[in-house]
Amino acid sequence: MTEQLESVAQAMVTAGKGILAADESTGTIKKRFDSIGTESTEDNRRAYREMLFRSTEAMRNYISGVILFDETLRQKAKDGTPLVQIISDTGAIPGIKVDKGAKDLAGAPGEKVTEGLDGLRERYAEYYELGARFAKWRAVITIGSQGSAAMPSAYCIRANAHALARYAALAQDANIVPIVEPEVLMDGDHDIDRCFDVTEFTLREVYAALYEQRVKLEGTILKPNMVLSGSDCPAQAGVQEVAEKTVMCLKRTVPAAVPGICFLSGGQSDEDATAHLSAMNAMFDSPWALSFSYGRALQAAALKAWGGKAENEAMAQSAFAHRARMNGLAASGQWNTELEQAA
Ligand code: 13P
Repeated sequence: MTEQLESVAQAMVTAGKGILAADESTGTIKKRFDSIGTESTEDNRRAYREMLFRSTEAMRNYISGVILFDETLRQKAKDGTPLVQIISDTGAIPGIKVDKGAKDLAGAPGEKVTEGLDGLRERYAEYYELGARFAKWRAVITIGSQGSAAMPSAYCIRANAHALARYAALAQDANIVPIVEPEVLMDGDHDIDRCFDVTEFTLREVYAALYEQRVKLEGTILKPNMVLSGSDCPAQAGVQEVAEKTVMCLKRTVPAAVPGICFLSGGQSDEDATAHLSAMNAMFDSPWALSFSYGRALQAAALKAWGGKAENEAMAQSAFAHRARMNGLAASGQWNTELEQAA
């Protein structure tokens, strides 16, 4: 069992490949569709995601796994083929988001805790049958405004770390690789050093909880935020500083037994998400593979090109292929702005 977990985790960080996060919940995909003036119907969601998964150039060459929402894992393509089958045929591994979202944390105004542990053992068994070989659970940590030392509270971070570890231990029991995602949000006016401190504390608590709950790190993937300046901070750190501080923070906290770290994009521009990842891989030797598990930064251009219209599918697929190739290059430290513009 441990062997299967390890080999799936290793395959998720195959050199030059990363993960496509296409697991937007019903609420989130509606927001994305609103931005292109498209109604979020079950069939439109199917059409959009089928378009991505049938983008063979992107999928075969740069995507190792796809995170799905419950609906998509059960959905069939227009011709009746299960979407999971289309993904597997490209060589990518299907995965499933299992958390039920971040809810208000009792006694901590403004802070969140992720829910979804009840019945999770049974849900994992079904998801495995449906073809999922890895899972995702996202915890959300908010940094309060500059000067407010109260947020995030240690209570919030520990409650989330505990839930992440419960989720991960149950996943491994079901022979499913857990993606452990503690996201320190980039929203706010804090500087990069505050993000560093909060991320370091969070990761220390997460790895302590994983150890306590007997999670085998070799069969896990970490999906963290990068260490960034808050989006409203007047002083924005450059690519080099982000790369240095992110790798330093991870080296202090993430055991070398973890096979791979696949970042979330978190609201960075497409090009920033790529540039930061490439700089980390170009500048440092790290004990773990460093790759991507992007949602917005892989899909934004494709979503816009698609615009809800079947006749735009080929254009959208080539936008997706371009972004996937740029991030594939970044996963080996080989991306640069000339390659970006050559397209
Ligand atoms: P973003 O890359 O858009 O942050 O999404 C990744 C993800 O899966 C968040 O849970």
